Amino acid sequence: MPKQSKENSNRLNSSDDLEIAGYLQTASKKESSGSSMEDSSEQVQESIIIIDFGSQYTLLIARRIREAKVYCEVFGPNITWDQIKKLNPKGIILSGGPHSVYESNSPKAPSWIYKIGIPILGICYGMQLMVQHFGGIINRGAKREYGHAIINQIGHSLLFKDLPEEIAVWMSHGDKIESLPEKFSCIAFTDNAPFAAITDGQDLIGIQFHPEVVHTQQGKEILSNFLFQICKCSSSWTPINFISWTVQEIQRQIGDKSVICALSGGVDSAVTAALISKAIGNRLKCVFVNNGLLRKNESDRIQQVFKKHFNLIYEDSSDKFLNALEGIIDPEEKRKIIGNEFISVFEEIAQNIGEIDFLAQGTLYPDVIESENVSGDSVKIKTHHNVGGLPEKMNMQLVEPLRYLFKDEVREIGKTLGLPDDMIYRQPFPGPGLAIRIKGEVTPEKLRILRDCDWIIINEIKKKNLYHSLWQTFAVLTDSKTVGVMGDHRTYEYVVAIRAVKSEDGMTADWVKFPYDLLSVMSNRIVNEVEGVNRVVYDITSKPPGTIEWE
Ligand code: XMP
Repeated sequence: MPKQSKENSNRLNSSDDLEIAGYLQTASKKESSGSSMEDSSEQVQESIIIIDFGSQYTLLIARRIREAKVYCEVFGPNITWDQIKKLNPKGIILSGGPHSVYESNSPKAPSWIYKIGIPILGICYGMQLMVQHFGGIINRGAKREYGHAIINQIGHSLLFKDLPEEIAVWMSHGDKIESLPEKFSCIAFTDNAPFAAITDGQDLIGIQFHPEVVHTQQGKEILSNFLFQICKCSSSWTPINFISWTVQEIQRQIGDKSVICALSGGVDSAVTAALISKAIGNRLKCVFVNNGLLRKNESDRIQQVFKKHFNLIYEDSSDKFLNALEGIIDPEEKRKIIGNEFISVFEEIAQNIGEIDFLAQGTLYPDVIESENVSGDSVKIKTHHNVGGLPEKMNMQLVEPLRYLFKDEVREIGKTLGLPDDMIYRQPFPGPGLAIRIKGEVTPEKLRILRDCDWIIINEIKKKNLYHSLWQTFAVLTDSKTVGVMGDHRTYEYVVAIRAVKSEDGMTADWVKFPYDLLSVMSNRIVNEVEGVNRVVYDITSKPPGTIEWE
């Protein structure tokens, strides 16, 4: 539990401070009564809060913390104490970022964080903000340091507990600390950075290097020391705990109302439905909408698998979606239209069923991060139809139990819930379906071509036992036609691209180095078996700079 130092109680002085003081009292009361997760009616879970200043590594920090089985969430710099106190934060991490603390519009950490008496780890820019806040000096535009460095420990900080005196770390910064604030001292240095790690000896720690990237060899251990030695977290972010917290949270949110859940055939919506079904039983109605943008035979397969597990309503809305997409070529417009159509179909079904107040969606954390803009700093890439594509006025409230999970965590929850492997390990398929794999206008003819190509690719991948080891494998129908020759005839037909990527969570991805003979088989089969295609190319772009889908 957070400890309230004498210094902290002196720091409290505004009305926000009264709120904080109240929290500290409650926290210490809980501690003295020995209250635990099991007997606490509030089901407060502990967490680490990351405040993001626009670093490319922020989600990586979140992943590392979740891997250590500690729950964490990312917020922008304007977050208030009121918004996060329910998460029972045990520590705060201030991320790095592209700014200099002396720029006029550079983001600042909220000042309340220094008053609540819980440990704070500032990484790079986050450390520089901390130093500036307490009166130290940052040397602006110092020689840029980027790449490997060796830090040498001074003293024995808990941050480096059980680690060697010298540690290989990854640096990426321009500004650096020139002089420390009063009460702060140095706990590690490098040849180039005299203040590579610092502390106030109590709750504040700053590091110039990035423990979250793999190049910092003992980065996991350093973050673990922060979580377990300094913040005193417990490893409580386990699938079983997540399931029990979430089921209670759903029961609280839904009360005695009913929920409609859209099943797409993928793991996200299946796990969403399984959690809600566990929470409210048959007050959950599952709907599978055929939007006409699915892969070959997918609609039949999904109905077969899901009918075994859920009370399923099937709705064929293909014409509605395809009509709405007529003439549309802009990817963002396609996404918005599909999102709106989905919601309108669900609202109609819900009205027919009657007395449905909630719509469940399998939105994941990367969808939220890429569609919203947590720090206010990173640029919006795409509107994922299940987040940003929602119409402004909706007649149902949303239930999104997976909103803060990564894909691999969802699969683990699915496994723990006992869902079949066929559901859990299906490669991700985007909500807007084949529409965002067809460049330009979506037409029935182009859908036919793409379905046939996709079928061949998945078939060949499965034959080679590669399906489960790859994040995604699919075809993209380009809007280019090229000249070819087949038999004695000139052809002028479409170019199809094969896309295959490996990824941990969809946030970054590497293209797959397939053997030439496999590429050759796929290419030959596509050109020979799919009418309308005379050329196949292989996409060798990673994410970044590309995205996984083409639109
Ligand atoms: P991108 O193309 O952004 O995709 O690199 C990352 C992952 O997200 C999937 N994706 C979506 N999933 N609704 C979804 O449910 C969407 O609108 C959407 N757009 C992309 C994509 O297939 C990949 O796994």
